[in-house]
Amino acid sequence: MSEPARFLTAISQALSTMSLYGDEHPATARSRETALERLSELQSSNPQVQFTFLAGEVLFGNETVHSLENWEWSSRLMKAGIERIEFLEPVDQDHFARFLAQLAVRLGIRPGDTTDIWQMGSSPVRFGLVTLAGNKSAEPEAALPVASLTYTLREERDTIDWMHRQIQGGGKLPIVEADAVVRSLSIAMHAEQAMMLPLLQLKEFDQYTTTHSMNVSVLAMALGEFLELGGPAVRAIGVAGLLHDLGKVCIPKDVLTKPGQLTPAERKLIQEHPVVGARMLLQNPDPMQIAAVVAYEHHVMLDGGGYPTLGNARGAQYASRLVHVCDVYDALRTNRPYRLAWESERALAYIESRAGIEFDPAIARSFIAMMRQWEGQVARVPA
Ligand SMILES: [Fe+2]
Ligand SMILES: [Fe+2]
Repeated sequence: MSEPARFLTAISQALSTMSLYGDEHPATARSRETALERLSELQSSNPQVQFTFLAGEVLFGNETVHSLENWEWSSRLMKAGIERIEFLEPVDQDHFARFLAQLAVRLGIRPGDTTDIWQMGSSPVRFGLVTLAGNKSAEPEAALPVASLTYTLREERDTIDWMHRQIQGGGKLPIVEADAVVRSLSIAMHAEQAMMLPLLQLKEFDQYTTTHSMNVSVLAMALGEFLELGGPAVRAIGVAGLLHDLGKVCIPKDVLTKPGQLTPAERKLIQEHPVVGARMLLQNPDPMQIAAVVAYEHHVMLDGGGYPTLGNARGAQYASRLVHVCDVYDALRTNRPYRLAWESERALAYIESRAGIEFDPAIARSFIAMMRQWEGQVARVPA
């Protein structure tokens, strides 16, 4: 069993023991000590530890704890309003005992006042709901007072930057990390009862490929959910959205951020990014089929325009058409070296006007309906 699994199992054993015995009972003290020892082991390599609890899954940082799939405590914690537990630094016995006592109350194992907000000020332990930074409605409900955790998307952004640097250096695409970023974005989207669309706001032009990739991933997953495509398909489209412009990471920054007209050679370089990206994705030992297709086809228009020329009658695949709309929307909503960002309504009107020519009309209609319906749930997160 991995160290994170050993620690969480020790926590669940301590909580079970607490439900049988009093705080002062030797069995309680012993199980608490064991759990704290497991935590110290876990923190010995990295003092900052973070767990996220989903319905059938536990994440340690961004990685699934496989031995705890369908672990019943994960659902119990989640239902009790504990979606995340973080240890920011090594924890002493006193703080750990208080943390366990709070968990026991929250889980209904111990009687206690759940409206009594734990003074988290100096505590190295935080737990509660996963919430978005800057979102006013992120305040926990009165009945579930929790330390609200901020969600900045910084880790995800840094991971994508790192992924791009790996590829620029001739390395292989880190598939596990790409998948972890998508999963993490999906968690951010479902942090609230209503669907949230956390979209990064570009500050530096040369950050465009990173912020744009994340935004297209979020928009594509949102559209996939809006169209009720089902979990695995939505996740695959999220990965495809994240990697659609992978072919751009090797294009020099000054070409990508050039404010004026491109020379024919520069235009050729840019127009090659779908082919370059698809090739990179297909070279992987575990080829990412949908992502490669989407990378190849995301600039193909419904009428056959755009690039590259497909040379088939069926046109671009469904996933590519879906990402194409999200791609154009995010590009229009962003400040570019050659024009300012458009307002959402203007970008949607453009998509509407190009439905049936550039965009699949049914997908364009759904995207517009989704953005209008979820407009209030867009969280603009500083990059
Ligand atoms: Fe592109
Ligand atoms: Fe793009």
